[in-house]
Amino acid sequence: MNLKAEVRVITVDPLSPDRVILANAGEMIRQGRLVAFPTETVYGLGANGLSAQAVRRIFVVKCRPPDNPLILHIAALDDLPRVACQVPSSAYALAARFWPGPLTLILQRNKAVPDEVSAGLDTIAVRIPAHRVALALIHASKTPIAAPSANHAGRPSPTTAAHVLHDLGERVELILDGGETDVGVESTVLDLTVTPPCILRPGGIAIEELKKVTGKVDRLGVERQDSGPARSPGLKYRHYAPQTPLILVSGTEMVAKIITLIAQYKAEGQRVGVLAGEENSSHYKEADYVVIIGPRADLPQIAKNLFAGLRQLDAAGADVLVAEIFDEQGIGAAIMNRLRKAASEVI
Ligand code: TXA
Ligand code: MG
Repeated sequence: MNLKAEVRVITVDPLSPDRVILANAGEMIRQGRLVAFPTETVYGLGANGLSAQAVRRIFVVKCRPPDNPLILHIAALDDLPRVACQVPSSAYALAARFWPGPLTLILQRNKAVPDEVSAGLDTIAVRIPAHRVALALIHASKTPIAAPSANHAGRPSPTTAAHVLHDLGERVELILDGGETDVGVESTVLDLTVTPPCILRPGGIAIEELKKVTGKVDRLGVERQDSGPARSPGLKYRHYAPQTPLILVSGTEMVAKIITLIAQYKAEGQRVGVLAGEENSSHYKEADYVVIIGPRADLPQIAKNLFAGLRQLDAAGADVLVAEIFDEQGIGAAIMNRLRKAASEVI
């Protein structure tokens, strides 16, 4: 397969996307080509979700392991039966509350969906994204769109078109640039094929909010799964990781520990980068690079800046990165899940 293409980055208004641009992008999807587009969470790498051939391209372009299934994006609840069957009433209750939005539901798969999308599983992941460009693209293409995050597999997810261009460059023909994404971490993945429902990945919708609709939920994906059979294949891979080793520092003495680490690495002649909240950043003056991702109490802002911060530090040229931990309330569960998976070491 020839991976090289003429990449075009087209700016679109995130609130009122140009109809002609979106009609052309939708036509590309229908023809089996790949289009990267913004969602409210992160940028997605989209393909016709009902075309096995188009979906296979996603795996090649991202270097994604073929056993890691994709999320299908639909524009309206009416399209749910096209991709899922035996839909439980809890799905409709959750959809009424959270769609369009950063919640992905695992349901029984409609056999019209090619095996490639679900990596051969009998289930399917589906969501309605809350972004006008994403919705307009799905409408224009008249098909469910399969889309993983538009990063190179294993790297931090893209929250800007520039991140997509950096990772996938000429491997993707069209990038719709709708500016920086809002939420910054991916959707919450909730498995509704089991009782009680099980969180496979914490994300943009807080677990506390889900429980108000579903009652009890299990939390499989909240902790890292290193061994045993994978409930969600994505859980077993290292993810979101910068190329530079990342050390996640926890505990009550977090700031003191980070200051000590900086001094130790500097003594060894290593350049140190630190990912931190606003409050403590002044303590890390001895580090070579400090990236501040927001006030520690403002978890939505920390989430929004997290992946861009990791990418910025990675590009800075440090030999080792050190990151603060954050509160696990609300979207903090998603932030800490991503940081734990990105880390090569937790101390
Ligand atoms: O916010 C998001 O969810 C973004 C935007 C683009 O929508 N997409 C995204 O896709 O994060 P991706 O491919 O990076 O992550 C999909 C996750 C993976 O962890 C995968 O294993 C899981 O969903 N998944 C997909 N289908 C599944 C299934 N049938 N059963 C269990 N897990 C599934
Ligand atoms: Mg991903």
